[in-house]
Amino acid sequence: MSRRSLPWSLLKATLDSTADGILVVDLHRRIVLLNRQFVDMFRIPDDILAARDDRRAVNFALDQIRDPEGFRRTIDGIYEHPDASSFQVIELKDGRVIECYSLPQYMAGAVVGRVWSHRDVTARVRAEEQRDRLLRDERKARAEAEEAVRLRDEFVAIASHELRTPLTSLQLTMQGLERRLAPGMDLERARSALARCARQIGRLTALIDQLLDVSRIQAGRLELQLSEVDLCAVVRDAAAQLADQLALAGVELVVRAEAPVVGRWDGDRLEQVVTNLLTNAVKFGGGKPIEVAIASDGRVARLSVTDRGIGIARETQSQLFERFSRGVSARNYGGLGIGLYLARTFVVAHGGRLYVESKPGEGATFTVELPLPHASPPPP
Ligand SMILES: Nc1ncnc2c1ncn2[C@@H]1O[C@H](COP(=O)(O)OP(=O)(O)OP(=O)(O)O)[C@@H](O)[C@H]1O
Ligand SMILES: [Mg+2]
Repeated sequence: MSRRSLPWSLLKATLDSTADGILVVDLHRRIVLLNRQFVDMFRIPDDILAARDDRRAVNFALDQIRDPEGFRRTIDGIYEHPDASSFQVIELKDGRVIECYSLPQYMAGAVVGRVWSHRDVTARVRAEEQRDRLLRDERKARAEAEEAVRLRDEFVAIASHELRTPLTSLQLTMQGLERRLAPGMDLERARSALARCARQIGRLTALIDQLLDVSRIQAGRLELQLSEVDLCAVVRDAAAQLADQLALAGVELVVRAEAPVVGRWDGDRLEQVVTNLLTNAVKFGGGKPIEVAIASDGRVARLSVTDRGIGIARETQSQLFERFSRGVSARNYGGLGIGLYLARTFVVAHGGRLYVESKPGEGATFTVELPLPHASPPPP
């Protein structure tokens, strides 16, 4: 073994034992030295290696690179400045990510070439991506949890207020009644006071029933009592229940229905759906007429409630069906923000859907679609 061959083979062995893929190129872009890792990294075949030409090696590698043109431009740019160092990240088509450093190689103070070192950082990059994804998911989950807590806090505040209002009115009426229970009491006025009390008790009961429904749904205990039900009768009953409220608001209700639309549904739940939609139409309808349309095409029963009131901005439309979600400020409009949540849940429990079409300032149409159980098969 010659004196020179020992350091050379030692150098080769050293290079092959480094983690990086190393390539040394002279000023004419001839390959002076490379190691096994570099060859494996870019799967460079023997004939290209034998040519010792860096341009051919780059050309061969291009096929494997995600942005071949950008890569070639960068490499050529680096060779234009022999004394500059460089760093770039190479993304390969097979998903690997390689960090590539290059430094000028000096001998006796002059630049004689360039040393490239390539490190496969795919595992680290994937781990970072995974960590970023987890962080993003966690941040999103935290924001959602905070929003849920905020909605719940707001809900508790509004609910206490909503429950307090009828109680105060009930209390005042009862006190008035008590005072008047003296000899010579006016029976007519006592009766109307009692009717007022009954109305407030009705309001309280309805509010508490709605809250009970929310917790029943949350606990997965919503059950439907199915029987033969006519949607027109459901609307009639709901409208009769709301007659006082409609009269008080001076709102005209127009019902369009050509024929009975009968299905196997839970009549009470559907009445709640219609009541919630009508109550909203009165509350947000600006005193203008409300129209209810009932129709069927044999497969789907459709019931829509249209008002000509404040309408709903497109971006808030989908949120309105969430629990406790309100699209208006509590200062201007009362309500717990559960009417539409309950309505949609009841409709979905029937296998149907509830959706809204609306433009701000032009009113809103809420449509309930229910599949008809005895639908005849579609024409071939
Ligand atoms: N017909 C409508 N026109 C305009 N906005 C509506 C209409 N119906 C519902 N909204 C909007 O949707 C929100 C949610 O309605 P939802 O019925 O769930 O709650 P609410 O009426 O505020 O309270 P609750 O029904 O529990 O008493 C309302 O706060 C309102 O912003
Ligand atoms: Mg409502």
